[in-house]
Amino acid sequence: AARGRCGSGRVGGAAMAVFVTRRIPSEGLRVLSQAGGCRVQQWDSEEPVPRAELLAGVAGKRGLLCLLSDRIDREVLEAAGPSLKVISTMSVGFDHLALDEIKKRGIRVGYTPDVLTDATAELSVALLLATCRRLPEAVEQVKNGGWTTWKPLWMCGYGLSDSIVGIIGLGRIGQAIARRLKPFGVKKFLYTGSRPKPENAAEFEAEFVPLSRLAEESDFVVVTCALTPATQGMCNKDFFARMKKTSVFINTSRGAVVNQEDLYDALAHGQIAAAGLDVTTPEPLPTDHPLLSLKNCVILPHIGSATYATRSTMAVLAANNLLAGLRGEPMPQELQL
Ligand code: NDP
Ligand code: DGY
Repeated sequence: AARGRCGSGRVGGAAMAVFVTRRIPSEGLRVLSQAGGCRVQQWDSEEPVPRAELLAGVAGKRGLLCLLSDRIDREVLEAAGPSLKVISTMSVGFDHLALDEIKKRGIRVGYTPDVLTDATAELSVALLLATCRRLPEAVEQVKNGGWTTWKPLWMCGYGLSDSIVGIIGLGRIGQAIARRLKPFGVKKFLYTGSRPKPENAAEFEAEFVPLSRLAEESDFVVVTCALTPATQGMCNKDFFARMKKTSVFINTSRGAVVNQEDLYDALAHGQIAAAGLDVTTPEPLPTDHPLLSLKNCVILPHIGSATYATRSTMAVLAANNLLAGLRGEPMPQELQL
C-alpha cells in the first residue's frame, strides 16, 4: 500500500527539510541521509504520491526531489510556500515543471542529463528493431500456433541497411542513437531542430532539413526532442501524410509530441508501416486504447532509462543536485532557467 514515511538525519545546525516524492534507488536516499543536515520526508511507495499528499508533503520544505510523473505547478509551489529553494527532478526531461513559476520564485532546479543517455539510446535502438522486424508479433505467432512452416512472404519487415534515418532533435540522446545505428549500414542521417548543429552532426554527416523534408525522405523517423510548446503535437496528420508507406516511426521523447489520433489513423490506414512508442499520452496508456489494438504498433511503458545502474546513478545525481542546491553550492547538473 502507498504510505508516506518520515525519516530524519541532522548534523550541525538546523536540519533542512526536504520532501522526496517516491521510493527511489536506495543509493540516492543514502546520499541524503549520509550528508547530514537534511531531514527527509518521503512518499515511500512504488506508486505516485496522491496530489493531496504531495501538497501536504511539500509544505514548509526547503527542497523537493521529484519524478517526471509529478506535476510541479503553481499549486504545488504555493503549497510549499517561500521556504522552497530547490527542486531536483530525477529525470532529464523537465516538461512536468512549471519553469516560469519556479523561476519567478528564485527556486533552483537540478536534473539528470548525460547519465541516462546510453541506456535510453540502447532502448530506442531495441524498440526500433523490435518494431521494424515485428518482434512482438512474431513472438506471439510462435506462442499461438501461427508458425506453421517457413514461409517466404511471412513476417517480413524493414531493415536499416541502406536506409535514411531522420532524427527529430539531435541532442544527447539523438546523437547516441545515431552513433549506434550507423554501423547497421544507414545510408544517410537527416535531422531537424530549432537550428542546425554542425558540431553535433559532423560525426554522422547528418543533414539539417525542415521537418516536412525529414518526414518525406526518412525510412525511419526517431523522435528524441524535448517536449516544449513548439514540439507539442508536432507529429500530426500532416506529418504522417508526408511519410512513406514503408516508413517506421519511433518516439522515445514524450507522448505529447505526437498527436495519437493522427498516428492511429496513419497506422490503421497503412499510411506508414509501423510505430514504436516508449512514451504515450496518458501514461499509463489505458489497456483499451485503440493504439493497442494495432499489430503494427509496439508500445513500451516508458522504460528508456530503466537499467539498474542508470536508475541508481540518476538517483545519486538527483540527491547530489538537491544537496548542492540546499547548501547554496553549484549543482553537479543545474538547469539554467
Ligand atoms: P537534449 O536537450 O540534449 O536534446 C533535446 C533536443 O530537442 C535538442 O537537440 C533540441 O534541439 C531538440 N529540440 C528542441 N526544440 C525542437 C524543435 N522545435 N524541433 C526539433 N527538435 C527540437 O536532451 P536529451 O537528448 O538528453 O533528452 C531528450 C528528451 O528525451 C528529454 O527531454 C526527455 O523528454 C526524453 N527522454 C525520454 C526517456 C525515456 O525513458 N523514454 C529517457 C530520457 C529522456 P535544439 O537544440 O536545436 O533546440
Ligand atoms: C527522463 O529522464 O526524462 C526520462 O523520461 C526517464 O528517465
